[in-house]
This record gives sequence, C-alpha cells and structure tokens, in this order.
Amino acid sequence: MNVGTMTIKSRRSVRKYRPTKIPPYVIQDVLDCGRLAPTANNLQPWLFGAVTDRDLLRKIADLTGSAPFIADAAVCIAVFGRFGETFYLEDCAAATMNMIIAFQNHGLATCWVAGDKKPYAEPVRELLGVPPEYSLVSLIPAGAPAEVGNPPKKTLDEVTFQDRYGGKDR
Ligand SMILES: Cc1cc2nc3c(=O)[nH]c(=O)nc-3n(C[C@H](O)[C@H](O)[C@H](O)COP(=O)(O)O)c2cc1C
Repeated sequence: MNVGTMTIKSRRSVRKYRPTKIPPYVIQDVLDCGRLAPTANNLQPWLFGAVTDRDLLRKIADLTGSAPFIADAAVCIAVFGRFGETFYLEDCAAATMNMIIAFQNHGLATCWVAGDKKPYAEPVRELLGVPPEYSLVSLIPAGAPAEVGNPPKKTLDEVTFQDRYGGKDR
C-alpha cells in the first residue's frame, strides 16, 4: 500500500456529518480533481455545482426523500452530465469518484447519492437552475465524519481472475 491506495482503501460511505465548515479552497481543490477526470474523446461533458446554502441543501434532501443526510452536509456537489453525449454517464461517474477520493484526501467523508435514473433528477436540476441539456448524475454530500462505515466487501479472490476466467488457479 502507498499513500494514494491507502486513501482509496480507507474510504467508506458516511451518512452522518459534524457541523464543521469546509474551507472554500478545499471545495475548489475537490472540484478541480473532478475537472481532471478522464472522459471519452476528452469531451468533459459536465457541470459541477457546489451547494453550501443550507436552505438549498435541505431542499435537495427533501427532494431525494432517501438521502435526508444531505441537509446536514457542509457541501453537496451536484454532478450534471450533458446527456446527448454517448459516454456522459461513465464520464460523470469518473468525475464523481475523483471528487470522492479528493474529499477523502482532505479528511472529509462523503456518500455517493444516485441522481441518474431517480425521479428527483429533474426537480434537483430545476431547483439549481441548470440548463435542460444537462441531467443529474450524482450528488456528493460531504462533511467531517460523525460515524464510521464498514459494510461487508467481497474478497479479492471472489471478484478477480487472472488471464482466462476459470483457469487453474480458480
Ligand atoms: C451509483 C451509486 C449510487 C448510490 N446511491 C446511494 C444513495 O442514493 N443513497 C445512499 O445512501 N447511498 C448510495 N450509494 C452508496 C452505496 O450504498 C455504498 O457505496 C455501498 O453501500 C458500499 O459502501 P461503501 O461506499 O462504504 O463502500 C450509492 C453508490 C453508488 C456507487
């Protein structure tokens, strides 16, 4: 393990946050990490909204219904993709993960909240005044962690193979 992989391995979704503010430079750094994610044909077909206004955070939480913890986050990044582009979902997922890991590197916890395919995707877009050619792909509430997550994970053996599946080592 090295510092980078340690960050990735120590991340778990956190749905309870302490009321600690996040400095603007940290949010900028996280957004910059999202901006630098790989995209198909380098199209970068996205918009990232950093929501810190408490009233908006509460409204987003209410719209989701299933993610009330967004109301208590210090910031929630809303990731939008230009859905006319073939690979916008993959691109926005890459950006989402870059930002989640960036938050983790700053000692902050997150939880990926689904946006794509959810009935609240359009209402959230409208709430934030984002143009209709974009659609919500994910929400990333973040804050100082107030809980520790430890969901069960499959073992490496269960989910990997080398060369051909079912070879002599499996
Ligand atoms: C595409 C995607 C959508 C998710 N949507 C939600 C969600 O709507 N609400 C939520 O609480 N967690 C959501 N999660 C977080 C997962 O529940 C979580 O990643 C999973 O339980 C594994 O836990 P871990 O993140 O701690 O490893 C989502 C994760 C992904 C990748």
